[in-house]
Amino acid sequence: MTPTPPFQAPTGTRDVLAPESYEWEGLVATYAELAYRYGFSLVITPIFEDVGVFVRGLGEVSEVFRNEMYVFTDRGDRTLALRPEGTASVVRAFVQHHPTTPWKAWYVTPAFRYERPQAGRYRQHTQLGVEVIGTDDPLVDVEVIALAHATFQAAGLRRYRLLVNSMGDRACRPAYVERLGAHLAAHEAELCDEHRERWRQNPLRVLDCKREPCVLVTAEGPMLLDHLCPECRAHFAAVREGLDAVGIVAEVNPRLVRGFDYYTRTTFEFVSDVLESAQNAIGGGGRYDGLVEELGGPPVSGIGFGSGVERILMVREREGATAPLVHRGLDAFVVDTVGDAVIQRLVASLREAGLAVDRAYGARSVRAQMKAADRSGARAALLYGPAEAAAGAVTLRDLRAPSDEGAQRRVPLGEVAGAVRALVNGGR
Ligand code: HAM
Repeated sequence: MTPTPPFQAPTGTRDVLAPESYEWEGLVATYAELAYRYGFSLVITPIFEDVGVFVRGLGEVSEVFRNEMYVFTDRGDRTLALRPEGTASVVRAFVQHHPTTPWKAWYVTPAFRYERPQAGRYRQHTQLGVEVIGTDDPLVDVEVIALAHATFQAAGLRRYRLLVNSMGDRACRPAYVERLGAHLAAHEAELCDEHRERWRQNPLRVLDCKREPCVLVTAEGPMLLDHLCPECRAHFAAVREGLDAVGIVAEVNPRLVRGFDYYTRTTFEFVSDVLESAQNAIGGGGRYDGLVEELGGPPVSGIGFGSGVERILMVREREGATAPLVHRGLDAFVVDTVGDAVIQRLVASLREAGLAVDRAYGARSVRAQMKAADRSGARAALLYGPAEAAAGAVTLRDLRAPSDEGAQRRVPLGEVAGAVRALVNGGR
């Protein structure tokens, strides 16, 4: 029995090793390609920021920022936070560097939240996302949603729905929140235990509460969609028309209140039908009209989405999706019992020619090296022993040949790259 190691990955985090990591690689590569096709460029920002980037002291502080952040003081006495999400950091970078607008940036980043860990909810998760800053054109809302949708489609997901809502803006939301507050005050005693105590902190959150008492009370109350100002109503209508135009089906959900205080107008969430409702969101996002200004920038609007890699892959598995996200694997594995410079140069030249090549180390026996070749999943083994060295050749063995007969042949050193490529491409 192997002894328990003294250290494990911290609670709520996980290690991802091959072959699971092949799917990660495939998903990130697929997403990068799609983001590129939609006109986005990659942005990389630090994993930690001044805590003020997330807790801005204005208005209601988001649940995630208030209760779940990893905050620490560094040796220079700065109060820093590990990023709980991508948006605020990207907006901070926008304000710092003022790139030309509209600025369209994509990212893949770890995010840290001190949550109660469970399946699909981690203390470190990985977000694929985008932000578009500098335009409030509803067409952009549609494109951001379409990119998220295209990503899930490419990952092979089918059993999910898109929910959309409008959070209104500075002109119409305050009056609505007051109306909602009056309704909740009148029905306070009927709310769930948590919200009976806390609804005043942010009445909007009660709309998002899944417990029956809150659902019943709010069902009879006012809904923001019925109280939007004309501009927000027109924006929402344009987003819905735009989604229709590109054939993306959206359900309007007037209860969709997402967990960040910065949202205005469009908010959306993609929910999976194969996950438990507590964390069924595979992605979500929305527009934020005040955030750039709050972080010291010009009064411009932004919109984006974030999606959890772990959730996408979990849903993929549950749906039994087979879309090819899989990493292509090794092309050849070198079994070498000579150890001269010729074989070293051959490995280097195959890699230069674009082939994925691995080899055994430590001068092990042919048997042990052949076992390693089988385990590696490579398409071919390249055997190099004294006979091959004398002939200036390798023995190329097809590791997926149905029988030993005809599975291997001698190939002169100068023709190995072509022969491996032909085998990988389905030839013989
Ligand atoms: P969010 O909804 O908090 O939004 O997170 C986006 C996605 O990240 C979720 O839909 C989910 O797939 C994944 N996720 C969140 N928390 C966890 C967790 N603890 N474990 C595993 N996966 C998780 C945002 O973060 C916004 N920044 C999105 C955005 C971009 N809004 C505008 N621009």
